[in-house]
Amino acid sequence: MKKSLSFIYAMSLFSILSCNPDPGEGISYIYDVQPIFNSNCIDCHSKGGSANLNLTQFSSTTNDSSNNAPIIIAGFPNQSLLIEKIALPNPSIGAAMPINRLRLSDDNILIIDTWIYKGAKDN
Ligand code: HEC
Repeated sequence: MKKSLSFIYAMSLFSILSCNPDPGEGISYIYDVQPIFNSNCIDCHSKGGSANLNLTQFSSTTNDSSNNAPIIIAGFPNQSLLIEKIALPNPSIGAAMPINRLRLSDDNILIIDTWIYKGAKDN
């Protein structure tokens, strides 16, 4: 499991570095990451949804207390459960996300991965 995550991560970094001299600098939580959650996640991940984790805003996304472990480790997408659950078909905890729906596009996974890599900031 660890191996495949590092592989995905290495590939992600490779594709950013190969076309952008300042990798991930322009990625914003509010303009890039939140819209992905809005379109794919918040019907379950909001107040009153089927899941405890609330992905409707920065504070609840980054201060999740629904599990014992944090889902985002700033700077380390390959150790973040959030990335594991959207990138791998069989994550170590629970189901792959979004449950029973099409996997996010590689571009969208890369945006979230890069946002975490750049420090998971409220920008
Ligand atoms: C159809 C409902 C549904 C959708 C859509 C959905 N989720 Fe989930 N999610 C759940 C449920 C139920 C759980 C708890 C069970 C589990 O972890 O498998 C969960 C758990 C999670 C967890 C683990 C939370 C924790 O604290 O353990 C993460 C991270 C997550 N989802 C991210 C996402 C993301 C990102 C999306 C959108 C790309 C998404 N989910 C879309 C229902 C959904």
